[in-house]
Amino acid sequence: MEKGYKASITGVGSFLPEKVLTNDDLSKMLDTTDEWITKRTGISERRIVENGVAASDLAVEASLRALDDANVLPTEVDLIITSTVTPDCLFPSTSCYIQEKIGAQNAGSFDLLAACSGFVYALSVAKSFVASGAMKTVLVVGAECMSKITDYTDRSTCILFGDGAGAVVVQQGNGGREIVTTHLGSDGSQAELLTLPAGGSKLPASHETVESHSHYIKLRGKEVFKQAIINMVDVITKAAAANDMQVEDFDMVIPHQSNIRIIEAAMEKLGLPREKAYININRYGNTSSASIPIAIDEIVKGDLLKPGDTAILVAFGGGLTWGSSVIKW
Ligand code: UT7
Repeated sequence: MEKGYKASITGVGSFLPEKVLTNDDLSKMLDTTDEWITKRTGISERRIVENGVAASDLAVEASLRALDDANVLPTEVDLIITSTVTPDCLFPSTSCYIQEKIGAQNAGSFDLLAACSGFVYALSVAKSFVASGAMKTVLVVGAECMSKITDYTDRSTCILFGDGAGAVVVQQGNGGREIVTTHLGSDGSQAELLTLPAGGSKLPASHETVESHSHYIKLRGKEVFKQAIINMVDVITKAAAANDMQVEDFDMVIPHQSNIRIIEAAMEKLGLPREKAYININRYGNTSSASIPIAIDEIVKGDLLKPGDTAILVAFGGGLTWGSSVIKW
């Protein structure tokens, strides 16, 4: 067991933009079909922001809902950590925009980047701040406008991604769903499998980068697919061992929603029934680091777990990165 104060999730919230982009919509834009997308990914539709909407706009709605759920005022927040690969801009951080928009005058703010694993990473950081006694109330946000970095001429990636945000309030004490343990991993030697090449210091924005579509996600799907299964299985197994549990003891697996076939293959390798995995990828696609907090919000609102149940969050993404977190409901 990890030492220090207990850290618990005391409030959850999420926000999805209204506009729906269906598989049929995509099939009118490029050479694909509803049948291929559904079969190969499990996705039927995804939400897309209107022009002019940024990640912080989605994050603010999710954050206010989470704070309300926790009965916490914005002024009581000590720290805001936002995970995003689609920040409002390169700097300042999206967390600073959220801090101003929600009126969290007493909060420190920073962003964290671990791609689709980012929410689990951010939750781990929040837990550590709270467990050490340095902070009492941390707002953890996963917010993504993936449509802004998606190449809608590339059928192998544009079918996957959607926009959305989720947030949780992490507080000291027993009064919520306890974050029991977290496990994180990474492998930078495989960084090239999933990247957004241009717009940083290595390849600054230029006419050439725009012409070559280098400001869009580049994904080597098959290789990422394999690595996702291997590392999700591994990090769930590690979490079970660290908690003196068997994987069967988890009442629910709450996976990052990347591809239904990845989730199903991981569950099969773990010897767990598919029904134990929470799945909403059909409705939202892959919302990167927003997918897990959106799922948690739906699970809480739907009363799908009861007090005393144990859930495991598990994520995988660019970096490569992965992570898990055991939550006692
Ligand atoms: O969030 C974490 C990061 N992301 C992921 O975890 C994504 C992981 N990867 C995947 O989900 C899958 O690899 C994809 C969904 C991206 C691709 O599925 P796949 O089963 O690996 O397909 P593939 O790339 O092997 O392509 C199979 C065929 C190809 O045609 P040929 O060469 O067999 O004739 C593709 O050109 O399917 C074709 N294809 C499509 N056909 C219709 C690729 N995309 C499409 C499409 N519609 N949208």
